Formats: sequence, structure tokens, C-alpha cells
Amino acid sequence: MNNTKNIVVLVSGGGTNLQALIDAQSRGELGNGKITCVVSSKADAYALVRAKESGIKSRTLIRKDYDDIASYSRAMRDILLEEKADLVVYAGFMTILDESVCDAFPNKMINVHPALIPSFCGKGYYGLHVHEEALKKGVKISGATVHFITAECDAGPIILQKSVEVMENDTPETLQKRIMEQAEWKILPKAVQLFCDEKIVVENGKTYIK
Ligand code: GAR
Repeated sequence: MNNTKNIVVLVSGGGTNLQALIDAQSRGELGNGKITCVVSSKADAYALVRAKESGIKSRTLIRKDYDDIASYSRAMRDILLEEKADLVVYAGFMTILDESVCDAFPNKMINVHPALIPSFCGKGYYGLHVHEEALKKGVKISGATVHFITAECDAGPIILQKSVEVMENDTPETLQKRIMEQAEWKILPKAVQLFCDEKIVVENGKTYIK
């Protein structure tokens, strides 16, 4: 059996995806991985309460305390190295870090995005805004994507995707809720399990599941 993999989860808000990971862990569904630390970019993120209630160590690294993205990124990289992260998961983490972080953790950082990449992604597409744009465009199907993080925002190799139907009377909030329930909370823990069990191979910018 391989050594257990340390999973560090980065959060900024409500933390429902963190909760999905915690619940999967309690059911024994994170494979060879264990959530060892949660890092929040906001002091008042409810995700921190979820970590505490589950007895998971948490730290905060407040974006506003740093002058620029470069110094914030370096501080985050140092925390991830200190925590001996084998896998870094962005679970509603709303800050784009620079390449100093993904260079230190190549193909070891994953993100959940609330749309079917390459639609409605990239800089400026986060949280409810993604769903507002999807509704504006009138798409009939949206969903979620879990992908590896590279220096380019939302452009790394795709690991898992799941589609979700858009309803005519959807608001950004109802669509967000359906996508979370039907897609994000399922494919994020699944991708973490696959990673921790070393089932994901990356070749030429694509992933293959063993
Ligand atoms: C989720 O929908 C997540 O996919 C999205 O923010 C929400 C966070 O919710 N992330 C992004 O938009 C990143 N680009 P949560 O804090 O309850 O997990």
C-alpha cells in the first residue's frame, strides 16, 4: 500500500464542496487520501467552520494582507510545502495564483469549475457570475468540470465533467444549486479519489483514467 496522500483544500466561501469532500472521506471514498489542512483566503469563510466541526486543521492566508498576487502566491506556495501537500484542491477558492504555485505542484493541483469547460471559464468567470452568463446565453445544458490547474486560468487537463439540464425558469441561484448537487459534489470527490489512488495519467495535455 502506498503512503497516505495529504490533501490540502483551498477555500474562500461557503465550502459546500469542502463538505462533499469531508463526507466522502467519512464514507471511506477518498481512496488513499486524507484531508490534512484547509486554507482560506477569507477570515469569515463558512468553510472554516466546516473544517473545525470535522476536526480538520485550518489556516488563513488573507489576500488583502499582501500587496500583489506574486507575494500572495509565494506565501501560499510556502504553506503548501510546509503542509507537505500531495494534492491541492481548489474548492471554491476565488483567487488566481501565479505560476510559482503550479510550478511547485505540477499536475498535483485540481479545481472544480461550475460549467462545462471550455464554456464560461477563464478570468472573471467564478461563482454565480458563471451561471448568469450561461443563462444570458440561453444554453440548455451546463454542468461542472474538475481539471488540473496550470498557469493559464481554467485551461489545464480536464479530469471529469458532468452535464446538468438548464430549466427555462432558472435563476443563477437555482442553476448553481442544481449544478452543485448533481455535478460538483459528485465529481470533485471522485476526481480526488482517482488522484489519490494514482489512477490519473496526463499525456499531451489530456488525462486518461487507468
Ligand atoms: C462552486 O460552485 C465552485 O464551483 C465555484 O464557486 C462555488 C463555491 O461554492 N468555483 C468557481 O467559480 C471557481 N472558478 P462552495 O464554497 O460552496 O464550495
